[in-house]
Amino acid sequence: MIFNYNTVLTAIVLAFSMTSVDAAAPVVRRTCFTGGTVGTECRQFINNFCNSVTANVAFRNNQERCYNTPNFKCDFGAFYEFSADANPPAALPSTTNCINTLNNVTNTCGGFGGYGNVAGGGFTFTLDPNQGQCGQIEAPGS
Ligand SMILES: *[C@@H]1O[C@H](CO)[C@@H](O)[C@H](O)[C@H]1NC(C)=O
Repeated sequence: MIFNYNTVLTAIVLAFSMTSVDAAAPVVRRTCFTGGTVGTECRQFINNFCNSVTANVAFRNNQERCYNTPNFKCDFGAFYEFSADANPPAALPSTTNCINTLNNVTNTCGGFGGYGNVAGGGFTFTLDPNQGQCGQIEAPGS
């Protein structure tokens, strides 16, 4: 077998697809909120949130967490939204995909927050700066 560029690339792709849980995949379907509280301070909580989801999330369920900044709050979510199965077992979101998606939101949404997925990822990750402090109900994007 000759190891040329394509062989190596194929091997890498195979290796990633076999351990797909934490493979880095491009962020797709990233949607920014267009109104509401603006600020990039929620960035500081991305790692904590993405590492905090350690229990399986049921399909179509959301694991949420809220963090306070001095002037507003940051609502985070990991929503198990997509599956090829109609009724898949509960699953853990990928920490890497969570971090990549929410960094993308922070870097590209002008501080409004937003949500997105990586290619093929079942979880939609949300970062949303909102008025008030944690424990107060706000509409998404406010
Ligand atoms: C963020 O996601 C968008 C939409 O999928 C993509 O076009 C863009 O390249 C990503 N940007 C970064 C910095 O990852």
